[in-house]
Amino acid sequence: MIEIQDLTKIYRMGSVEVRALDGVTLDIGKGEFLGIMGASGSGKTTLLHMLGLLDEPTSGRIVIDGTDVDTLTDYEKTMFRLYKLGYVFQDFALVPDLTVMENVSLPAMLRKDRTEEQYHEASIDILRKIGLLDRQDHLPRELSGGQQQRVSIARAMVNRPDILFADEPCANLDTENSRLVLDLFREINEEMHQTIVMVSHEDWHKDYFHRIVRLKDGKVISDGTSGSSIR
Ligand SMILES: Nc1ncnc2c1ncn2[C@@H]1O[C@H](COP(=O)(O)OP(=O)(O)O)[C@@H](O)[C@H]1O
Ligand SMILES: [Mg+2]
Repeated sequence: MIEIQDLTKIYRMGSVEVRALDGVTLDIGKGEFLGIMGASGSGKTTLLHMLGLLDEPTSGRIVIDGTDVDTLTDYEKTMFRLYKLGYVFQDFALVPDLTVMENVSLPAMLRKDRTEEQYHEASIDILRKIGLLDRQDHLPRELSGGQQQRVSIARAMVNRPDILFADEPCANLDTENSRLVLDLFREINEEMHQTIVMVSHEDWHKDYFHRIVRLKDGKVISDGTSGSSIR
């Protein structure tokens, strides 16, 4: 599903160089619920940005579903993201003036191959799935943090992406709401066979992941199935 080869990202700020990713090689399989863990500054967000085509690596290769993403033009990347990828941000990133329904429908509306009925139906389906269909006419600020994050997951899921990325989606949530969000990811993974790549630095989240890749200083230091972290 995703092949990552020798991925390196160097940020240059004046004369200072930060090697945020340093030769990451990794394969991610279809249907996996993968956790990327590591301390703050270890390169987790940078890796997810590269995989989500939100930023470009300094060197290395990313192949998603047979496509070497480096060969895509900016427009093709936008289309690739819209059709194949879903992205959940730490701070929800909902549009404040749009209702829940409008926020969730947005990525579906942007697709050129969907009729209004089709994207409306897709939005209703996913809102029902996350248990917030009755809040469809609310504005984001009228919802709790946990509910807002579930709406942002619905938005990321509305186009049925091949891969769902989530960068510390529970960072702004209390334990109870974090569990609701993690349970939702688990359900999406198990019932819809959704491939999920989630970043976290909370140790207890590891129980949810099938596989955990640990980063340190931009390098993979371990890769293993839940908890064991063996290589
Ligand atoms: N846009 C940027 N410009 C310069 N340095 C950056 C930028 N983004 C991240 N970094 C640096 O790259 C390293 C990895 O950051 P990041 O990927 O955000 O780590 P994590 O998500 O694991 O906390 C850090 O040292 C960080 O300061
Ligand atoms: Mg981060």
